[in-house]
Amino acid sequence: MNKKFYITTAIDYVNGQPHLGHTYEKVLADTIARYHRLKGESVHFLTGVDEHGQKIQQKANAEGIEPLAYCDRITESFIDLTHRLKLTNDDFIRTTQERHKKVVTWALQTLFDKGLIYKAEYRGFYSVKEERFLQEKDRVNGEWPAMFGEVRELVESNYFFKLSQFQPWLVEFYNQHPDFIFPQYRRKQVLEFLKEPLNDLCISRPVERLQWGIPLPFDPNYVTYVWFDALLNYISAVGFGGENFNAYWPVDWHVIGKDILLPAHAIYWPTMLKALELPMPKHILAHGWWLVSGEKMSKSLGNAFNLFDWLETRGIDAVRYFLLREMVTGQDSEFSLENFENRYNNELANDWGNLISRTFNMVQRYCDGIVPTVDAQATELKSIWESTHQSICKHFDGFQFAQGLEELFKFIRELNKFIEVKAPWKLAKQTDEASLAELKSTLACLIEGIRLSVQWLQIVLPESSEKIMSALGIDPKPDFTWKVQHLAGTKITEKLLLFPKIVHSA
Ligand code: ME8
Ligand code: MG
Repeated sequence: MNKKFYITTAIDYVNGQPHLGHTYEKVLADTIARYHRLKGESVHFLTGVDEHGQKIQQKANAEGIEPLAYCDRITESFIDLTHRLKLTNDDFIRTTQERHKKVVTWALQTLFDKGLIYKAEYRGFYSVKEERFLQEKDRVNGEWPAMFGEVRELVESNYFFKLSQFQPWLVEFYNQHPDFIFPQYRRKQVLEFLKEPLNDLCISRPVERLQWGIPLPFDPNYVTYVWFDALLNYISAVGFGGENFNAYWPVDWHVIGKDILLPAHAIYWPTMLKALELPMPKHILAHGWWLVSGEKMSKSLGNAFNLFDWLETRGIDAVRYFLLREMVTGQDSEFSLENFENRYNNELANDWGNLISRTFNMVQRYCDGIVPTVDAQATELKSIWESTHQSICKHFDGFQFAQGLEELFKFIRELNKFIEVKAPWKLAKQTDEASLAELKSTLACLIEGIRLSVQWLQIVLPESSEKIMSALGIDPKPDFTWKVQHLAGTKITEKLLLFPKIVHSA
C-alpha cells in the first residue's frame, strides 16, 4: 500500500478578503503535497476557513446581516482562491459545517466528563482583537501593546480546560521530539515559553457577549472559544472516528505561520490531543511572514495590494514561482513587485520560457517537428542532471524550495548555454553526416533536459507545465533518469509562448 501523507494548512479567518500571506501558505502546502504525490504517496491535503468568533460577529453586525451570510460571502473568495492557485486540496473545511460542530461538541463533552473542564470566575484584561484574556506578562512597560487593540477589564464566569496539569508532559514531549517543529530552532522558543507556569485555558465565551460560536454541550449559556473550535478542524475534516481518520491521523505536517505557533499550535493543540487520548501530530512547519516595509502584510494593516488582480495579470504560475523562489522557508521576506518582475523576466521569461520556445522552434525547423531518435548519450549533461536532481531532492525534502529551484534553474541555464555552444543553426548548414548527427543529438538532449526539468517544475508551475507536458506527451508518472531516447519520435505541433516578458512603457 502507498505511504499515506496528511498535510494541513491554517484555516483562514474570514474577517477579511484573502491576502498574500494566505496565498503563500497555501502554495507552500500545495507544493509539498504535490511533491509527495510525485513520490507516489497517497496524499490528503486539507485547507479551509475559520468562521466563528467575535470578529466575525462584529463584521456581520456592522453590515446588518447574519454571521453565516457574511461567512458564505467571504468563504466564497477563499474557495475561489484555491481554484485560481490550482491548489490540489482534497478537502476544504468550514468550521460552520455540521461534521465539524459534531466533533467539537464531542471533544468538549469528553473533556468535561473526564473532569478536565471546570467552571470558575475570572477577572482579567480582555483583548477584543486577539479574542483572549491577556496576562500581566503581555504588558510592555506597564502598557498593553497596540497589537492587542482595545483592552477591557472583564469579570465573568467561564469554563476552563486544565491545560496547566499537562505542562510537565508537554516539556517532556518537546525534549523528546527535537524535529517536531520546522525550523528546529523554534523549539527553543517553545521550551522558553514553557519555563513560565501555564494557566488553564478559558474555552468559553458567555452568550451575552458572543453568540457566534459552537454552544457548549453542557451549558447553553456559553459558546466555544474560537481557537479551541478551530484547532479541531484537523481531525473533524478527516472524518474523526472513521476509517479515513484512522488511515490519515496522525497528520504528517501542519503548515502554519510563525504567529500562530505559540501558544495555539505548540501548546494548546498537543495538549488537547493528549487530553483526548489521541496521537500527536508528527510535525509542524512554521513559515515566516511576508513583510511590507518591515511590517507583516495583513488585512488589518491594510497594506495588502489587490491580490486577485495581480494573479489575473501575471498568472498563477509566476506568482507561485516567485513566492517559493523568493522566501527561504521559515524566514521572513520583504515583498516587492520589483523583485517579482526581475525574477519573472530573468528566470521565467529568459531562462525557462526561451529554452522552450527556442528548442521547439529548432525541432520544427530542423527535424520536421519530430524529436530525433539518437543512440548517442550526451554524458556532459547527464552527469550535470544527476547531481542537480540529487540536490533538488535534498532541498525539497527539507522544504528548501528556493534552493531547489535555484539548482534547477542553474541546470536550465546550462541547457541554454548548450544551445549557444552547439549552435544548431550552424550545424544545420553543414551537409556532412557527423554534423547532422550532432544536430540531432543536440536537440534530443535539449528535449530530454526539458522533460526532466518540467517533471520538477510541475509541482511549482502547474499551469504552464501541463501545456509543456501535453505538447511533448510526457508520462504523468515521472521518470527522473536521463535517457535521450525517452521522447524520440514525438511530434511537436505546438508553439509555446510561455511567460511573455513584462515591459513597462515609459
Ligand atoms: O490565524 N505572511 O487565521 P489568519 C505569511 N484562523 N503568512 C501570513 C501572513 C503574512 N504576512 N499573514 C497571515 C488564523 N499569514 C487562524 C488560524 S488554524 C487552526 C486557525 C498566515 O487568517 C498566518 O500565519 O489570521 C496563518 O498561518 C494563516 O495565514 C491564516 O491567518
Ligand atoms: Mg492572523
